[in-house]
Amino acid sequence: MEFKLCVPCLFGLEGLVADELRRLGMADVTAENGRVYFVGGPAALAEANLCLRKGERVLLELGRFPADSFDALFEGTRALPWEALIPADGTFPVTGYSLNSKLASVPDCQRILKKAVVERLKSRYGLQWFPETGAQHQIRFSIMKDQVSLCLDTSGEGLHKRGYRPAHTAASLRETLAAAMVDLSRYRGMGEFCDPFCGSGTIPIEAALIAKNRAPGLNRHFAAMDWPALPPQIWAEAREAARAREFTGDYRILGSDLDPKAVEIARANARRAGVDDVVRFEIADAMAFSRSTERGVIVTNPPYGERLMEKQEAETLYRGFGHALQQCTGWQLYLLSSHTEFERCFGRQADKKRKLYNGMIKCDLFMYFKKQA
Ligand SMILES: C[S@@+](CC[C@H](N)C(=O)[O-])C[C@H]1O[C@@H](n2cnc3c(N)ncnc32)[C@H](O)[C@@H]1O
Repeated sequence: MEFKLCVPCLFGLEGLVADELRRLGMADVTAENGRVYFVGGPAALAEANLCLRKGERVLLELGRFPADSFDALFEGTRALPWEALIPADGTFPVTGYSLNSKLASVPDCQRILKKAVVERLKSRYGLQWFPETGAQHQIRFSIMKDQVSLCLDTSGEGLHKRGYRPAHTAASLRETLAAAMVDLSRYRGMGEFCDPFCGSGTIPIEAALIAKNRAPGLNRHFAAMDWPALPPQIWAEAREAARAREFTGDYRILGSDLDPKAVEIARANARRAGVDDVVRFEIADAMAFSRSTERGVIVTNPPYGERLMEKQEAETLYRGFGHALQQCTGWQLYLLSSHTEFERCFGRQADKKRKLYNGMIKCDLFMYFKKQA
C-alpha cells in the first residue's frame, strides 16, 4: 500500500513542514501554497501523525481531477476506489472549500460528492443503504481553479491539539505556530530558553518537547487508528520508534507572565504534556526582565494591542521590554507581533523579519540574533 499524503499547514510554514517531513525520512516531499505532499505507506502515515510538530493534519489523497461542472465532479468522484478505505459500516461526512472555481457552491459540491461516493460504495458492496455507524472517514475536498482534490482525513482532530491544553488563556498561540517559532530560533535544547509573556505556556512547552525530541502526538488518538483498512500495529510501532528517539538532558526552559492565573494554567499544561520536569514557570513582569547568564534565547508572543490591550499599552510594554533587554546583550530574541510600530517602540531594528499568520492576524516574527555592540 502506497499513498499520496498531504499535510495542510499555516501559510508561511510550508518550507518548515517540508523540512520536517524530509527529516522523518519521507519520500517525494513537495511544498505548495498552504500544503505539503509526500508519498508513503501506512507506517509513514502513522509516523507523520505522531511526529509532525508544524503540520495541521495528515490527509490521504484519493485523487485529483479537473471539474468545472457537477457532472464532472460526480463522475470523477465515483471513479475513485473509496471502498479500498471506507468499510461498509464506515461514517463518511464530507466537508471542504472551493476557491476561484466555477463550482462555487460548497453545499452543492458536498451533496454531489456524497452522492457519488454512495453510488460507488453501493456498486462495490452490493448494498442499497449505508448505516454509517462505524469509524469516521472524514472526506475533505478542495476545489482550486477548477482542480478537485479529494482526501480522507487520517488525523481527526487537528494535529495542533496535542492533548495538553484543555484550559487556555484568552489569546493562546496555536501549538503548531509555537513549534515553528521555536524551530526558527534554532533552539534544540542547548543553553537558556525563556518566554517572558508565556500565557498558557505553549511556547516553553513546545520548546521542551523539541529539546526532549518527544513526538507531540504520542498520547493522543487519530481517526485512522479506527480504520480497518490499515494494519493495526503501525500505531504501536510508530509510538515505540518515537520513544526510542527521545533525548534526556538538563534543560533550562523558563516561562513567566505577569498574570498569576496564566502561570497556574501553564504549570498544569506542562504537567499534562509530561514536561514539568524541564520547564519552570514564574510570575514576573517582562518590563523588569534581567538575566545573570550571558547568553540565551527568548521566543515570545506578547500582547499586540489588538486583542488583549489597547495599542498604546502595547507600545509602552514594548518600550519597557526593549529597555530591560539592553542589559542582556548576548541574548537572542524571536518575537511575534502584528503591531506595525513594534521595532520603533522596542528601540531596535530586527536583524530579520518573517511573515507569519496567527489565526487571521498577519504578524511578523521579529528576529534579533546578532550580538549587540
Ligand atoms: C498573547 S498572550 C501570550 C499567549 C501565549 N503565547 C499562549 O500560548 O498562551 C500575552 C501574555 O502577556 C502577558 N503580559 C502582559 N503584560 C505583561 C508584562 N508586563 N509582563 C509579563 N507578562 C505580561 C499577558 O498576561 C498574556 O498572558
